[in-house]
Amino acid sequence: MAATQKPKRGVGPSAELAVPVVLVLNGPNLNLLGTREPAVYGSQTLADVQALCEQAARANGLQCDFRQTNHEGTLVDWLHEAGRLQAGGRLAGVILNAGAYTHTSVALHDAIKGTGVAVLELHISNVHAREAFRHHSYISPVARAVMAGFGVAGYALAVAAVAGWASA
Ligand code: DQA
Repeated sequence: MAATQKPKRGVGPSAELAVPVVLVLNGPNLNLLGTREPAVYGSQTLADVQALCEQAARANGLQCDFRQTNHEGTLVDWLHEAGRLQAGGRLAGVILNAGAYTHTSVALHDAIKGTGVAVLELHISNVHAREAFRHHSYISPVARAVMAGFGVAGYALAVAAVAGWASA
C-alpha cells in the first residue's frame, strides 16, 4: 500500500479503500413527511431529509444509503443486511427512525440484538412529550444511542455522530 493511501478498513480487497456506509432506515408513514402533521414533523419532505443526510454524509466522509418502507419485515431484512455490512467492516452505523414500530416491534428489537448492529434510534419529534403510548421504545434497550426532538435537522446531527463511531 502506498504511503498516501488511506488505512485499510474491513477485510479483503474490496473493503480496502471503501468509504464507510451510514444506513438511514425510515419506517412507516415517514414517506408522508411534508404533509403529515406539519406542526409535529415540519414541512420538509422525505426527499429533503435524504438530501440533508447525503450532504451530511459527504461532509463527514461517509457514504449514505437512505431508505424508507412501510413494512416491518423489510426493516428486519435491512437490519440483517446492515449486520452483514458491519461484519465486513463496511458499516459506520445505522440511523433508525422506526416510526410507530418503535413502540410495538419485538421483531426489530430482536433483529438489532441478534445482529449486534450499531443503531442510533432517531425521532423527529420529542416522543416523551407526546402521548403515553409513544414513551416506550422496543429499540432503545438495544440501541447504541437515542435522539429525539431535533426536528429533521436531527438526521444531520445523527450522521455526524455515526461518523464519530466510524473513526473511533
Ligand atoms: C416518530 C415518532 C413516532 O411515535 C411516530 O409513530 C412516527 C414518527 C418521529 O420521528 O418523531 O411515525 O418516530
